[in-house]
Amino acid sequence: MKPIKEMMQPHIVSLPGYEFEDPMEVQAQKLGVSPEHVLRMNLNENPYGPSPRVAEALAGFKDYNRYTDPIQREARAALSEYVGFGPEHIVAGAGADELIDLSMRMFLDLGDSVINCTPTFGMYAFNTRVCGGQVVTMPRDADFDVDVEAVAGAARSGAKMLIFASPNNPTGNLTSGERVRRLLELEIIVIVDETYHEFSGRSIVSLVREYPNLIVLRSFSKWAGLAGLRVGFGVMDPEVAERMLTMKPPYNLSKAAELAMLASLDDREFLLAKAHSIAAERDRMRAMLSKVPGVKPWPGHANFVLCQLPEGMGKRVYDGLLRKGIFIRRYSDSRLRDFIRITAGVPEHTDAVVKALQQVMEEAK
Ligand SMILES: Cc1ncc(COP(=O)(O)O)c(C=O)c1O
Repeated sequence: MKPIKEMMQPHIVSLPGYEFEDPMEVQAQKLGVSPEHVLRMNLNENPYGPSPRVAEALAGFKDYNRYTDPIQREARAALSEYVGFGPEHIVAGAGADELIDLSMRMFLDLGDSVINCTPTFGMYAFNTRVCGGQVVTMPRDADFDVDVEAVAGAARSGAKMLIFASPNNPTGNLTSGERVRRLLELEIIVIVDETYHEFSGRSIVSLVREYPNLIVLRSFSKWAGLAGLRVGFGVMDPEVAERMLTMKPPYNLSKAAELAMLASLDDREFLLAKAHSIAAERDRMRAMLSKVPGVKPWPGHANFVLCQLPEGMGKRVYDGLLRKGIFIRRYSDSRLRDFIRITAGVPEHTDAVVKALQQVMEEAK
């Protein structure tokens, strides 16, 4: 038999792995501290966890041996009522990540180009490569918004798809409906990832009624605190949804995930109120950070704050906070080398991270 690697698809053999963070227990162990003494402000998780109704629903869960409904009737009906689109527009999956994968596999042939507006979430480039597509890296403009003229140029050169987040991760900014409309008029497939929608209160989802080339993605990981259970969904043209339901793995949404999603939607007032308080905490943290000499927080509409530091300080600040048991996010991307991203949530964590950052900046003088 020939070497097994020669039987793999070449683009899989050369695929760079997704850059992920070790689980907190592993990171804490490396630091020599116990996980409960660590502040986890690096993954944009919801520190409050899910609705109490999720735990109640799962405590009574008995159907471990049963498969879910492949066409997700109950889940899509509940999501339909939440998002204000008929169930024929909706497909649910294992997080927004699975919807990114399904959308790309539906439209991409080997070698097709996908426009990726950087800096942004790493899954877009990664998943394009998994599908054997070509990543066309398109830097965002000075305000970190999607550069319509540059995207139009790439579309003219034959790019098939554009994917971007609004609010974007890690820059936190929104792309306006008017700009999204101009992008849709380019007649390429446009995927708008609204994973952080509930912290911004803004959405371009209504454009799905006008543009069959638009897919909007949402997640239950952030506002509903279900990152570990994997729940997301997409809103799209009914013809696209029908094909996506046909091509997806039949039981992609687990029974437990479905139950948790339904319980979260039942308790949405509670969860949305929490999301609003996280957004308020984000604004309070930004105001506090703006008073730390040398730190420039950017405006943003998600559950985190991106901060610019003096040149060369990104790694020093990251390491300094790490030594104090505070995990934040830093970047290898050249444009973000001097930036850090801090997840917002619990007021005591805000106070602790701002105090620690003040000390680190002081020591670095
Ligand atoms: C922009 C963006 N999209 C999608 C995801 C992943 O969402 P999910 O957990 O629903 O797969 C993340 C996670 O951080 C994200 O930042």
